[in-house]
Amino acid sequence: MPARPYTLTTRAIHPPEHAGRFSHQPTSAPIYPTSSFAYDRIEDAVRVFEGKETGYVYSRYANPTVVAAEAVVADLEGAETAVAFGSGMAAILAGLLGVGVGAGRTVMASRDLYGGTYALLVNDLAGLGVETVFVEADHLDQVEATLAKGAVAATYIETMSNPLLRVIDVPRIVELSHRYGARVVIDHTFATPYLARPLEWGVDCVVHSGTKYLGGHGDITCGVAVAPAFHDRVDKLRRNLGGVLSPFEAWLLLRGIKTFPLRMRQHCENAMTVARFLEAHPKVTRVDYPGLSSHPDHDRAVRLFGGAGFGGVVAFDLGDGTMETAWRFINGLRLCQAATTLGDVETLVLHPATSSHRSLAPEQRQRIGIGDGLVRMSIGIEGVEDILADIEAALQTV
Ligand SMILES: Cc1ncc(COP(=O)(O)O)c(C=O)c1O
Repeated sequence: MPARPYTLTTRAIHPPEHAGRFSHQPTSAPIYPTSSFAYDRIEDAVRVFEGKETGYVYSRYANPTVVAAEAVVADLEGAETAVAFGSGMAAILAGLLGVGVGAGRTVMASRDLYGGTYALLVNDLAGLGVETVFVEADHLDQVEATLAKGAVAATYIETMSNPLLRVIDVPRIVELSHRYGARVVIDHTFATPYLARPLEWGVDCVVHSGTKYLGGHGDITCGVAVAPAFHDRVDKLRRNLGGVLSPFEAWLLLRGIKTFPLRMRQHCENAMTVARFLEAHPKVTRVDYPGLSSHPDHDRAVRLFGGAGFGGVVAFDLGDGTMETAWRFINGLRLCQAATTLGDVETLVLHPATSSHRSLAPEQRQRIGIGDGLVRMSIGIEGVEDILADIEAALQTV
């Protein structure tokens, strides 16, 4: 084959036409590490830009690997489309704005929230003129009274709250919110589509920190918003806010999701075993796990999750309830690692008062039941006897 009529320098940049064009179908989605897409004719590019033809022009708008990951998450949630982001926080912000939250509007949020979401609401969105009213989401009279004031654009809740695993009556909250014209955004990170699909309850926008169970291996930071009726708005917000997911991380998400149901089954099974073990342990004063009949929301969790399980996170209080005791326990663990995340295959431990919920004032933490002695464990999928042995050894140090 004759050399192409270019200098070596140019040929290194412009590959031959057949390079990178394949007719076969790979079983694993290809990674498209490209910021833009080239067209032979400008007219074709413009048609795609104008939305008259489907295609790709620029990876901040859409990227094939990211779109493949979005399609899988959407399908798990029972939708056709989803919007992926570079983090769960970016998905939460776009979800809220996407359903109509903005200056002069009100968000009604459950008091029991992930600390980062709380900070977003009370610091950043408040600074932009969005008021947030916090309610006890299991007090439906309080929920209705807030909605009845008429200014609520969106209700924001978590299917299973972090870290106390409260399970609220989502279908009732959706019904009430819609009655008063509010949309519902739900953070489904803890429960995941393995336990329930909130769109079936009428929720308007499901958001995930895909960093957690969906990715599952602690190697990505990612978020997803699934909002069938608001998809175009959320998609446009991603374009303009720019919190995109990289094609590499989208591919890791795709790979992680292949084992998501198997992992979840094991997370749930191991967490149930650990929760029962802790509940029976003399050094543990309280265990929060919705699979235990002692949990205040056990019956509701059975009803809403239909027996699929109760998730992989267990929270508990130790001995004298002080930070020193909690830290001594955490430092006594060998197999289980102290890390500020959850949902990985490894068992992880965290001290909410000084990590996930540090942005809350101490009295606020106390009010929602997050004491200094509270420990949260994300139970992994290791052999459960090894997890129990590690916990037992660490408990002996407190
Ligand atoms: C329930 C919940 N939602 C959202 C987030 C934020 O997700 P990310 O860290 O991917 O932005 C977290 C992070 O820990 C979380 O626990």
